[in-house]
Amino acid sequence: MTIRPELVEVITRTGPIPFEEFQERALYGSGGFFVGDALRSVKAGDFLTSPEVSPLFGETLGAFVAAEADRLGAVPRVVEVGAGSGSLLKALLEVIPAEAWAVEISMAAQIASSYVVGEDRVVPSLDDVPFDGPTVVIANELLDNFPVALAVRTDSGWEERWIGVDGKDLCLVAAPLRDEVADWVNRFGGDVPLGGMVEAHVLGDAWFRELLGRIETGAVCIIDYGDTAEALVPRRSFGTLRTYRSHHRGPDPLAFPGETDITADVNFSSLLALCSELGWESTLERQEDFLTRFGLRAKLSELRQEELALARDGDPMQRLIVRSRKNEAETLLQSRGLGDFRVLVARR
Ligand SMILES: C[S@@+](CC[C@H](N)C(=O)[O-])C[C@H]1O[C@@H](n2cnc3c(N)ncnc32)[C@H](O)[C@@H]1O
Repeated sequence: MTIRPELVEVITRTGPIPFEEFQERALYGSGGFFVGDALRSVKAGDFLTSPEVSPLFGETLGAFVAAEADRLGAVPRVVEVGAGSGSLLKALLEVIPAEAWAVEISMAAQIASSYVVGEDRVVPSLDDVPFDGPTVVIANELLDNFPVALAVRTDSGWEERWIGVDGKDLCLVAAPLRDEVADWVNRFGGDVPLGGMVEAHVLGDAWFRELLGRIETGAVCIIDYGDTAEALVPRRSFGTLRTYRSHHRGPDPLAFPGETDITADVNFSSLLALCSELGWESTLERQEDFLTRFGLRAKLSELRQEELALARDGDPMQRLIVRSRKNEAETLLQSRGLGDFRVLVARR
């Protein structure tokens, strides 16, 4: 059920609220999209993520963790933030037997993840994870869900857009720029056309800064849609804020809060800047290239060969299994699909 009537009532009483407060309530507040019993990132849910497309994704990340174990001289603790159903960790643990933790705020996802890592290692916050010793943190499609502030470039400079009320509906209203949003937009907004919209990832960056501050040695791997500030400029006329529901692009974010995912492209420039500021080495590459580097394209060639051999003289059922695994690998690597996601790896 949508929480729009409650929001309309609160805003009518107290006045407009910043966009990030609206998004926080719509996704994670009472009645929010990620709060109910439903797991959102699965085939029967609202969007399909790489770990749900195939266990090959988690297995390939297992190869990445194994390479990190070589570099660090010990098998690191693995922490997945926003672990969803636990599919990524399940496949990863088949490749490398690490101590794994899932950080999740959705109850449905916490329950699902507990079957993979055990109840004691599913926690709601980074505060509950031990950060002693080498650690690898993975987050797939987490940061695009962090609440953002909205800024629009006008004739007279930048303005924010907050959420106000128009009768029984929610609407965007102009608001002056807060200092933290101004700093962020001036550094990472890019060369935006007049009327263009920028989602300021002030909260996502604060989370990332805190995370890097907790890890003494290890790596962080952030996988998501988005790009650098510069590359996002052509998407700025309308901004990148959007909704998903039942695997389709959904309605206006203000129309059915609580019933749709609300998401925005991740601006990797601000994350890269934080890595340099805090003394971490970092790389940014496409998912296709990252997965290839850790063996998925080689695996795909093997699957193609295997399928051909089975077509000649094999068991038809086995051939179907191999073919579907091959299709999954192709989906993860697809240049105009999941393969075009970005992977930031930070190391220290
Ligand atoms: C888009 S889903 C992705 C799930 C999973 N990583 C996948 O790829 O299938 C985002 C998940 O992040 C969780 N989440 C959002 N903010 C979080 C936070 N601050 N800490 C932990 N989990 C969070 C949500 O509950 C949701 O399960």
